[in-house]
Amino acid sequence: MAQVACGIDIGGSGIKAALVDLETGEFVGERIRIETPKPATPDAVADVCSQLLTQLQVDPHIPVGIAFPAPVIHGVVPFIANLDASWAGTDVHELMERHLGRKVIALNDADAAGIAEVTFGAAKGVNGLVILTTQGTGIGSAIIMNGVLVPNTELGHLEIDGYDAEKRASSGQKTLQELSWKKWAKRLQRYYSHVEMLFSPDLFVVGGGVSKNHEKFMPLLDLKTPMVPAKLFNTAGIVGAASFAAQQTLSKEN
Ligand code: BGC
Repeated sequence: MAQVACGIDIGGSGIKAALVDLETGEFVGERIRIETPKPATPDAVADVCSQLLTQLQVDPHIPVGIAFPAPVIHGVVPFIANLDASWAGTDVHELMERHLGRKVIALNDADAAGIAEVTFGAAKGVNGLVILTTQGTGIGSAIIMNGVLVPNTELGHLEIDGYDAEKRASSGQKTLQELSWKKWAKRLQRYYSHVEMLFSPDLFVVGGGVSKNHEKFMPLLDLKTPMVPAKLFNTAGIVGAASFAAQQTLSKEN
């Protein structure tokens, strides 16, 4: 497998990229970031990805993976909650090839984080069912059974008490509604106990920037399932996208 791959993480406020050492999961050189264009249309976002690859001087034979904030089914985005609505129906692989002049591999951002955590982080070596959720503007989910990812789960959009769950329990809503840790934890309790009832996981991993403050909310939760913060915090999207692209490139070559 290639020793280095490039990961790009598309988020609501910034698009970030770095080269990743596939043995260690660490960045090779710096991580660069460009503000997400407004509106974040497919063409505008693809242009930013092109600028990032140019700035990082990514060699054409290095695999490139893109973590995307929506499900990606065989390259196509069926719907999108937190970026421009015009993405629905877009074939990300075709779009990026047109703008970047090279093949890339796109996957859901929470799935990318799941791959990163299972390879290098909090879910490494864990047997059984791990559910990773990423907390941000939305709630992303990755389900991993004995190290194998079940892609494109959308547990942030479970309907709970008549609400789209991420509209109540995401860390983005905590910020927007200026909720205290205690108030937010009540919403998390409702959310994670529901997910626990549905799936009976062996471990919850919580990622996203807010997991740095895990001691402020995890002790307030009463769950049967152990819950730990992600280890890669906000680098997981880039690292997981790079690892996934390298694996996919390898499996296509063989
Ligand atoms: C999207 C998911 C994504 C999550 C985090 C949700 O609104 O539907 O696909 O993983 O936000 O970006």
